[in-house]
Amino acid sequence: MKFRVLILATAGLSALLCACSSAPGRPTAGDTPIVPSEITDFNVLYGQNCAGCHGNDGKGGAAIALADPVYLAIADDTVLRHATADGISGTSMPAFAQSAGGMLTDKQIDVIVQGIRQRWAQSDILRDANPPSYSSSEPGDPSRGSLAYAQFCSSCHGAGGRGGQKAGSIVDGSFLALLNDQELRTIVIVGRPDLGAPDWRGNVPGKPMSPQDVSDVVAWLASQRAKFPGQPYSTAGKSTGEVR
Ligand code: HEC
Ligand code: HEC
Repeated sequence: MKFRVLILATAGLSALLCACSSAPGRPTAGDTPIVPSEITDFNVLYGQNCAGCHGNDGKGGAAIALADPVYLAIADDTVLRHATADGISGTSMPAFAQSAGGMLTDKQIDVIVQGIRQRWAQSDILRDANPPSYSSSEPGDPSRGSLAYAQFCSSCHGAGGRGGQKAGSIVDGSFLALLNDQELRTIVIVGRPDLGAPDWRGNVPGKPMSPQDVSDVVAWLASQRAKFPGQPYSTAGKSTGEVR
């Protein structure tokens, strides 16, 4: 009798053990969550970290279009990598590298930079176009810039940059407080094709802006910060509830 009980017990136990691997609710290999730092799929990384500001398909967002072959032809990988890893001071572009307080590994940042270029760049889109360089090589002059503004920009942004029928104000203090001079320069050179803003060649048909025109307009825009003061957003990132 004792022997019989033992056999039954053993059979029951092995049945239990065998059933385990297919028991409902037991996670299978595919269910194991991927540790965030192990994600190396561009679409996932871009979707989770960039799409909110730069748009789902790299355009149409609040921040400049990354799916813009003209932008990608003037900004090299060092620019893309530096912006993504370290953020851009004076703007809301965050730093993503772990070394700069973000969440992404160096490898993930490489995946993003290479993915942006592979998907959205067109290698010879600016062949023969002789674009102004990404960073300024000549100092700008605000008073010449005011004339360049009238010539190249006022048709859409209105007199003095205060907004026109085709485009909004670009001298609003709160707007200028959110972009540093390089970002203004980037936008003047590449435009916002996704929003209908022309690049440096298209403001006045047949008359591209010279590199000097670009630097001058940026200097003029920067000079408007003082004239139309915006909020001096704290760069310390502290939220003390203090009203400045
Ligand atoms: C919270 C909003 C926000 C998020 C999220 C964000 N960006 Fe940005 N990014 C900005 C802003 C703002 C700028 C400045 C230019 C502008 O206003 O359009 C910028 C600028 C950039 C530039 C530089 C443009 C130049 O002048 O050369 C790059 C490159 C860039 N972002 C890449 C990325 C990538 C890649 C991600 C995701 C890993 C990302 N950004 C996520 C807001 C954001
Ligand atoms: C053909 C019309 C047109 C011309 C010319 C033009 N823009 Fe724009 N610009 C736009 C449109 C459209 C936008 C999208 C935002 C809006 O509707 O105000 C824009 C947006 C911008 C922005 C803001 C981008 C943002 O993040 O909101 C800046 C800065 C700007 N333009 C500067 C300039 C400057 C400087 C010039 C002259 C060198 C210029 N634009 C010439 C149509 C134009």
